[in-house]
Amino acid sequence: MQIARTIEDARMMIMEAKTRALREGRSTVTGFVPTMGYLHQGHASLLRQAREECGVRVLSIFVNPIQFGPKEDLSRYPRNEAGDLQLAEENGVDVVFLPSVEEMYPRAIKTSVQVADVTERLCGASRPGHFDGVATVVSKLFNIVQPDKAYFGMKDAQQVAVIEQMVFDLNIPVQIMPCPIIREADGLALSSRNVYLGVEERRQALILSETLKLTEDWLAECRGDFAAVKERMEAHIRTMPLADIDYVDLMLYPDIQPVYGLPVGEWAGRRLLAALAVRFGTTRLIDNRLFELG
Ligand code: PAJ
Repeated sequence: MQIARTIEDARMMIMEAKTRALREGRSTVTGFVPTMGYLHQGHASLLRQAREECGVRVLSIFVNPIQFGPKEDLSRYPRNEAGDLQLAEENGVDVVFLPSVEEMYPRAIKTSVQVADVTERLCGASRPGHFDGVATVVSKLFNIVQPDKAYFGMKDAQQVAVIEQMVFDLNIPVQIMPCPIIREADGLALSSRNVYLGVEERRQALILSETLKLTEDWLAECRGDFAAVKERMEAHIRTMPLADIDYVDLMLYPDIQPVYGLPVGEWAGRRLLAALAVRFGTTRLIDNRLFELG
């Protein structure tokens, strides 16, 4: 496994990895997993998927400052380079791209990628500018790595919708591969931010996955009254005194448009995203579940 800290080295090492694959008669399809590090089994699942489908595997680790709001957790975002490199090695990565902020943003950035519409609700509404930062850094990373396939977790379902829209609109030659959410045995979705949780917060945070599980039953019996389902979700989360709701919502996916009032005649083939963001102390957790409407 090779480690690149500059864009130039990354390009060279990826080229070498492709040449090696070609010489050894392996696939030169390049798979890319962009991350912000502090890797866990959720990230590992993306790496394993890439290992199965691609002859050349690239991981990036970059805590991207432009996707954090001024009051967010950029300065305390958890880091563990040694642990990340070990997990990368164990999961078949060929090249790790680990740039500094100066390498990615050597001077004030004057170009950004803004995706409209799908960024207006959910995390886009509660984190203004967040998805501009994500779309901008992901397009920079795509230009540096030039992958054939890029792997993203459905843990961030809206992020997947945003990236798919960007890739479609800008004709970026990469296939976006959405991957399932990996959870702890008790249901909590894995997240680098889970380390911030105190013992009691961690216990109460189970209400997120539990609510999403119950949502399946509530949807089955709701007869199209999605607003009532949303209320039941909110009420259930509020049974935990430490849970401070940022949003709870039901959206059509990948449109990220509210489902409320959608006539039954228009359900066929549509997907519904039950999404939530909840604070426990200073830690904001997100989780979601995707349902087929009909
Ligand atoms: P990060 O939060 O590090 O996540 C990197 C990738 O891992 C994302 O695609 C995310 O959806 C996926 N992931 C995280 N937890 C997961 C879980 N429990 N199960 C499955 N996949 C999971 O998302 C980002 O970084 C950044 O916004 C980035 C795309 C790298 C741009 O800076």
